[in-house]
Amino acid sequence: MAGNHAFRIALLYHIALAMKALFDAIPPGDADLALAAAINPDRLPAHIAIIMDGNGRWARRRNLPRVAGHRAGIGPVRVTVETCAQMGLQALTLYAFSVENWKRPRTEVDMLWRLLKLYLRSELPDMLRHDIRFTAIGRLDDLPDFVRAELDQTLRATASNRGLQLNLAINYGGRAELVDAVKRLVEDARRHDAEHGMRIDEDAISARLYTAGMPDPDLLIRTSGEMRISNFLLWQIAYAELYVTETLWPDFSRTELLRAILDYQKRDRRFGGLGSRPSRRVEDPLAEALGVPAR
Ligand code: FPP
Repeated sequence: MAGNHAFRIALLYHIALAMKALFDAIPPGDADLALAAAINPDRLPAHIAIIMDGNGRWARRRNLPRVAGHRAGIGPVRVTVETCAQMGLQALTLYAFSVENWKRPRTEVDMLWRLLKLYLRSELPDMLRHDIRFTAIGRLDDLPDFVRAELDQTLRATASNRGLQLNLAINYGGRAELVDAVKRLVEDARRHDAEHGMRIDEDAISARLYTAGMPDPDLLIRTSGEMRISNFLLWQIAYAELYVTETLWPDFSRTELLRAILDYQKRDRRFGGLGSRPSRRVEDPLAEALGVPAR
Protein backbone atom coordinates (compact mmCIF):
# COMPACT_ATOMS: atom_id res chain seq x y z
CA MET A 1 0.00 0.00 0.00
CA ALA A 2 2.80 2.41 1.03
CA GLY A 3 4.70 1.32 -2.09
CA ASN A 4 1.66 2.15 -4.19
CA HIS A 5 1.43 5.61 -2.63
CA ALA A 6 5.12 6.29 -3.24
CA PHE A 7 4.73 5.14 -6.86
CA ARG A 8 1.76 7.49 -7.35
CA ILE A 9 3.67 10.45 -5.90
CA ALA A 10 6.63 9.66 -8.15
CA LEU A 11 4.30 9.40 -11.14
CA LEU A 12 2.61 12.75 -10.37
CA TYR A 13 6.02 14.34 -9.90
CA HIS A 14 7.05 12.98 -13.30
CA ILE A 15 3.88 14.32 -14.96
CA ALA A 16 4.31 17.74 -13.34
CA LEU A 17 7.90 17.89 -14.58
CA ALA A 18 6.84 16.84 -18.07
CA MET A 19 4.06 19.44 -18.17
CA LYS A 20 6.71 22.00 -17.16
CA ALA A 21 8.42 21.24 -20.47
CA LEU A 22 5.18 22.18 -22.24
CA PHE A 23 4.83 25.46 -20.30
CA ASP A 24 8.47 26.28 -21.05
CA ALA A 25 7.80 25.75 -24.77
CA ILE A 26 4.83 28.13 -24.99
CA PRO A 27 5.86 31.79 -25.45
CA PRO A 28 4.56 34.30 -22.89
CA GLY A 29 1.25 35.82 -23.96
CA ASP A 30 0.39 32.88 -26.26
CA ALA A 31 -3.25 31.78 -25.91
CA ASP A 32 -2.10 28.15 -25.61
CA LEU A 33 -0.86 28.95 -22.08
CA ALA A 34 -4.44 29.21 -20.82
CA LEU A 35 -5.39 25.94 -22.53
CA ALA A 36 -2.35 24.16 -21.10
CA ALA A 37 -3.13 25.51 -17.63
CA ALA A 38 -6.68 24.15 -17.86
CA ILE A 39 -5.43 20.62 -18.52
CA ASN A 40 -5.46 18.28 -15.54
CA PRO A 41 -2.00 16.63 -15.55
CA ASP A 42 -3.40 13.79 -13.48
CA ARG A 43 -5.86 12.74 -16.22
CA LEU A 44 -3.79 12.87 -19.37
CA PRO A 45 -4.47 10.23 -21.99
CA ALA A 46 -1.65 7.67 -21.88
CA HIS A 47 -1.92 7.07 -25.62
CA ILE A 48 -3.29 9.32 -28.37
CA ALA A 49 -3.94 7.95 -31.87
CA ILE A 50 -4.48 10.28 -34.83
CA ILE A 51 -6.00 9.78 -38.29
CA MET A 52 -4.26 12.58 -40.17
CA ASP A 53 -6.74 13.37 -42.93
CA GLY A 54 -7.37 16.25 -45.32
CA ASN A 55 -3.98 16.83 -46.96
CA GLY A 56 -5.47 16.47 -50.46
CA ARG A 57 -8.34 18.88 -49.76
CA TRP A 58 -5.94 21.38 -48.22
CA ALA A 59 -3.90 21.34 -51.44
CA ARG A 60 -6.95 21.46 -53.72
CA ARG A 61 -8.27 24.58 -51.98
CA ARG A 62 -4.98 26.26 -52.89
CA ASN A 63 -4.84 24.89 -56.45
CA LEU A 64 -1.75 22.92 -55.51
CA PRO A 65 -0.90 19.29 -56.31
CA ARG A 66 -1.97 16.75 -53.64
CA VAL A 67 1.63 16.11 -52.67
CA ALA A 68 1.93 19.75 -51.56
CA GLY A 69 -0.71 18.89 -48.96
CA HIS A 70 1.33 15.94 -47.72
CA ARG A 71 4.43 18.12 -47.51
CA ALA A 72 2.46 20.71 -45.53
CA GLY A 73 1.40 17.87 -43.22
CA ILE A 74 4.92 17.43 -41.85
CA GLY A 75 4.80 20.63 -39.74
CA PRO A 76 1.75 19.51 -37.72
CA VAL A 77 3.38 16.07 -37.23
CA ARG A 78 6.41 17.80 -35.71
CA VAL A 79 4.29 20.06 -33.45
CA THR A 80 2.06 17.17 -32.31
CA VAL A 81 4.99 14.89 -31.52
CA GLU A 82 6.82 17.62 -29.61
CA THR A 83 3.74 18.62 -27.62
CA CYS A 84 2.94 15.03 -26.64
CA ALA A 85 6.56 14.52 -25.58
CA GLN A 86 6.52 17.77 -23.59
CA MET A 87 3.34 16.66 -21.80
CA GLY A 88 4.92 13.36 -20.84
CA LEU A 89 2.43 11.16 -22.70
CA GLN A 90 3.35 7.53 -23.03
CA ALA A 91 2.47 6.93 -26.69
CA LEU A 92 1.34 8.63 -29.88
CA THR A 93 0.29 6.59 -32.92
CA LEU A 94 0.00 8.41 -36.25
CA TYR A 95 -1.75 6.83 -39.24
CA ALA A 96 0.70 7.69 -42.04
CA PHE A 97 -0.18 5.11 -44.73
CA SER A 98 -2.91 2.49 -44.84
CA VAL A 99 -2.87 -0.86 -46.68
CA GLU A 100 -5.54 0.70 -48.92
CA ASN A 101 -3.37 3.74 -49.81
CA TRP A 102 -1.50 1.70 -52.47
CA LYS A 103 -4.54 2.38 -54.69
CA ARG A 104 -3.39 6.00 -55.08
CA PRO A 105 -1.41 7.14 -58.13
CA ARG A 106 2.13 5.77 -58.16
CA THR A 107 3.63 9.28 -58.14
CA GLU A 108 1.74 10.18 -54.95
CA VAL A 109 2.77 6.95 -53.20
CA ASP A 110 6.42 7.43 -54.23
CA MET A 111 6.32 10.99 -52.96
CA LEU A 112 4.93 9.80 -49.61
CA TRP A 113 7.89 7.41 -49.20
CA ARG A 114 10.35 10.19 -50.02
CA LEU A 115 8.63 12.50 -47.54
CA LEU A 116 8.77 9.82 -44.86
CA LYS A 117 12.50 9.36 -45.40
CA LEU A 118 13.00 13.12 -45.28
CA TYR A 119 10.93 13.35 -42.11
CA LEU A 120 12.82 10.57 -40.32
CA ARG A 121 16.21 12.05 -41.28
CA SER A 122 15.36 15.60 -40.32
CA GLU A 123 13.54 14.72 -37.08
CA LEU A 124 16.05 12.31 -35.57
CA PRO A 125 17.95 15.03 -33.63
CA ASP A 126 14.62 16.30 -32.27
CA MET A 127 13.58 12.76 -31.26
CA LEU A 128 16.87 12.30 -29.42
CA ARG A 129 16.56 15.71 -27.73
CA HIS A 130 13.03 14.89 -26.52
CA ASP A 131 13.92 11.33 -25.43
CA ILE A 132 11.43 9.94 -27.99
CA ARG A 133 11.44 6.24 -28.84
CA PHE A 134 10.43 5.61 -32.44
CA THR A 135 8.50 2.50 -33.51
CA ALA A 136 6.51 1.55 -36.60
CA ILE A 137 3.58 -0.83 -37.06
CA GLY A 138 2.05 -2.35 -40.18
CA ARG A 139 3.14 -4.79 -42.88
CA LEU A 140 6.58 -3.23 -43.00
CA ASP A 141 8.10 -6.06 -45.08
CA ASP A 142 6.17 -4.81 -48.12
CA LEU A 143 7.70 -1.33 -48.00
CA PRO A 144 10.43 -0.22 -50.41
CA ASP A 145 13.90 -1.19 -49.16
CA PHE A 146 15.08 2.39 -48.67
CA VAL A 147 12.05 3.10 -46.42
CA ARG A 148 12.68 -0.07 -44.39
CA ALA A 149 16.32 0.91 -43.98
CA GLU A 150 15.39 4.40 -42.78
CA LEU A 151 12.82 3.03 -40.33
CA ASP A 152 15.32 0.49 -38.94
CA GLN A 153 17.95 3.18 -38.56
CA THR A 154 15.56 5.49 -36.61
CA LEU A 155 14.33 2.57 -34.52
CA ARG A 156 17.86 1.58 -33.55
CA ALA A 157 18.99 5.16 -32.87
CA THR A 158 16.11 5.83 -30.45
CA ALA A 159 15.74 2.34 -28.93
CA SER A 160 17.11 3.28 -25.52
CA ASN A 161 15.01 6.46 -25.15
CA ARG A 162 12.47 6.40 -22.35
CA GLY A 163 10.08 9.27 -23.14
CA LEU A 164 7.20 9.33 -25.62
CA GLN A 165 6.81 6.30 -27.89
CA LEU A 166 6.19 7.72 -31.36
CA ASN A 167 4.53 4.94 -33.29
CA LEU A 168 3.96 5.38 -37.04
CA ALA A 169 1.33 3.18 -38.68
CA ILE A 170 2.67 2.51 -42.17
CA ASN A 171 1.14 0.06 -44.64
CA TYR A 172 -1.19 -0.55 -41.72
CA GLY A 173 -4.70 -2.01 -41.68
CA GLY A 174 -6.67 -3.01 -38.60
CA ARG A 175 -8.09 -6.12 -40.27
CA ALA A 176 -4.67 -7.11 -41.63
CA GLU A 177 -3.29 -6.74 -38.11
CA LEU A 178 -6.00 -9.04 -36.73
CA VAL A 179 -5.31 -11.59 -39.48
CA ASP A 180 -1.58 -11.48 -38.62
CA ALA A 181 -2.37 -11.84 -34.90
CA VAL A 182 -4.60 -14.86 -35.52
CA LYS A 183 -1.89 -16.46 -37.69
CA ARG A 184 0.63 -16.00 -34.86
CA LEU A 185 -1.86 -17.38 -32.38
CA VAL A 186 -2.41 -20.50 -34.48
CA GLU A 187 1.36 -20.98 -34.94
CA ASP A 188 1.96 -20.54 -31.20
CA ALA A 189 -0.89 -22.94 -30.39
CA ARG A 190 0.65 -25.57 -32.70
CA ARG A 191 4.05 -25.15 -31.06
CA HIS A 192 2.55 -25.07 -27.59
CA ASP A 193 2.77 -28.06 -25.31
CA ALA A 194 -0.25 -30.08 -26.42
CA GLU A 195 -0.73 -31.52 -22.93
CA HIS A 196 -1.37 -28.15 -21.32
CA GLY A 197 -3.27 -26.57 -24.18
CA MET A 198 -3.30 -22.85 -24.67
CA ARG A 199 -5.57 -20.18 -23.25
CA ILE A 200 -7.21 -18.15 -25.98
CA ASP A 201 -8.56 -14.93 -24.50
CA GLU A 202 -8.36 -11.18 -25.07
CA ASP A 203 -4.86 -10.97 -23.57
CA ALA A 204 -3.68 -13.72 -25.93
CA ILE A 205 -4.87 -11.66 -28.92
CA SER A 206 -3.59 -8.30 -27.59
CA ALA A 207 -0.17 -9.86 -27.04
CA ARG A 208 0.01 -10.78 -30.73
CA LEU A 209 -1.02 -7.42 -32.17
CA TYR A 210 1.59 -5.06 -33.61
CA THR A 211 0.92 -2.83 -30.58
CA ALA A 212 1.68 -5.54 -27.99
CA GLY A 213 2.93 -3.92 -24.79
CA MET A 214 1.47 -0.49 -25.57
CA PRO A 215 -1.54 0.85 -23.67
CA ASP A 216 -4.69 1.04 -25.82
CA PRO A 217 -5.39 4.56 -27.13
CA ASP A 218 -7.50 6.63 -24.73
CA LEU A 219 -8.17 9.32 -27.32
CA LEU A 220 -8.59 8.96 -31.08
CA ILE A 221 -8.42 12.21 -33.06
CA ARG A 222 -9.50 12.47 -36.69
CA THR A 223 -9.00 15.62 -38.75
CA SER A 224 -11.03 16.90 -41.73
CA GLY A 225 -14.45 16.03 -40.34
CA GLU A 226 -14.98 12.50 -41.69
CA MET A 227 -16.88 10.29 -39.24
CA ARG A 228 -15.00 7.09 -40.05
CA ILE A 229 -12.49 4.79 -38.39
CA SER A 230 -10.90 3.78 -41.74
CA ASN A 231 -9.57 0.41 -40.58
CA PHE A 232 -7.40 2.01 -37.87
CA LEU A 233 -6.53 0.13 -34.66
CA LEU A 234 -9.87 -1.69 -34.72
CA TRP A 235 -9.17 -3.84 -31.66
CA GLN A 236 -7.31 -1.23 -29.63
CA ILE A 237 -9.87 1.60 -29.86
CA ALA A 238 -12.69 -0.41 -28.29
CA TYR A 239 -13.01 2.17 -25.48
CA ALA A 240 -11.18 5.16 -26.95
CA GLU A 241 -12.84 8.57 -26.78
CA LEU A 242 -13.34 10.02 -30.26
CA TYR A 243 -12.57 13.62 -31.21
CA VAL A 244 -13.34 14.69 -34.78
CA THR A 245 -12.38 18.16 -35.95
CA GLU A 246 -13.17 19.91 -39.25
CA THR A 247 -9.59 21.21 -39.36
CA LEU A 248 -7.60 19.73 -42.24
CA TRP A 249 -4.39 18.00 -41.13
CA PRO A 250 -1.96 20.64 -42.54
CA ASP A 251 -3.78 23.24 -40.39
CA PHE A 252 -3.73 21.10 -37.22
CA SER A 253 -1.96 22.95 -34.43
CA ARG A 254 -0.91 22.72 -30.80
CA THR A 255 -4.05 24.71 -29.94
CA GLU A 256 -6.25 22.05 -31.54
CA LEU A 257 -4.37 19.24 -29.78
CA LEU A 258 -4.75 20.93 -26.38
CA ARG A 259 -8.47 21.47 -27.09
CA ALA A 260 -8.87 17.78 -27.94
CA ILE A 261 -7.20 16.80 -24.65
CA LEU A 262 -9.41 19.22 -22.69
CA ASP A 263 -12.49 17.80 -24.39
CA TYR A 264 -11.30 14.27 -23.54
CA GLN A 265 -10.92 15.26 -19.88
CA LYS A 266 -14.58 16.29 -19.77
CA ARG A 267 -15.75 12.83 -20.82
CA ASP A 268 -17.13 10.35 -18.32
CA ARG A 269 -15.39 7.11 -19.31
CA ARG A 270 -17.54 4.22 -18.22
CA PHE A 271 -15.95 1.23 -19.99
CA GLY A 272 -19.39 -0.37 -20.11
CA GLY A 273 -19.92 0.12 -16.36
CA LEU A 274 -21.70 2.86 -14.44
CA GLY A 275 -18.88 5.33 -14.60
CA SER A 276 -16.75 7.34 -12.27
CA ARG A 277 -19.49 9.66 -10.98
CA PRO A 278 -20.43 9.08 -7.33
CA SER A 279 -23.35 6.67 -7.34
CA ARG A 280 -24.56 7.38 -3.78
CA ARG A 281 -27.09 9.99 -4.91
CA VAL A 282 -28.80 7.45 -7.13
CA GLU A 283 -28.59 4.60 -4.70
CA ASP A 284 -29.58 6.35 -1.47
CA PRO A 285 -33.23 7.07 -2.38
CA LEU A 286 -33.55 3.46 -3.50
CA ALA A 287 -32.02 2.25 -0.24
CA GLU A 288 -34.40 4.52 1.66
CA ALA A 289 -37.39 3.27 -0.30
CA LEU A 290 -36.41 -0.32 0.37
CA GLY A 291 -35.74 0.43 4.01
CA VAL A 292 -32.15 -0.83 3.90
CA PRO A 293 -29.17 1.14 5.19
CA ALA A 294 -27.26 3.03 2.50
CA ARG A 295 -23.76 1.72 1.84
C1 FPP B 1 -4.57 11.61 -45.64
O1 FPP B 1 -4.91 12.77 -46.38
C2 FPP B 1 -3.13 11.58 -45.40
C3 FPP B 1 -2.29 10.60 -45.80
C4 FPP B 1 -2.73 9.40 -46.53
C5 FPP B 1 -0.86 10.67 -45.56
C6 FPP B 1 -0.43 11.21 -44.26
C7 FPP B 1 0.87 11.83 -44.47
C8 FPP B 1 1.30 12.96 -43.89
C9 FPP B 1 0.54 13.68 -42.85
C10 FPP B 1 2.60 13.50 -44.37
C11 FPP B 1 3.65 13.61 -43.36
C12 FPP B 1 3.72 12.50 -42.39
C13 FPP B 1 4.83 11.82 -42.09
C14 FPP B 1 4.82 10.87 -40.96
C15 FPP B 1 6.07 11.96 -42.83
P1 FPP B 1 -5.63 12.59 -47.80
O2 FPP B 1 -4.57 12.63 -48.84
O3 FPP B 1 -6.46 11.36 -47.81
O4 FPP B 1 -6.52 13.87 -47.84
P2 FPP B 1 -7.93 14.04 -48.59
O5 FPP B 1 -8.89 13.11 -47.89
O6 FPP B 1 -8.25 15.48 -48.38
O7 FPP B 1 -7.71 13.68 -50.02
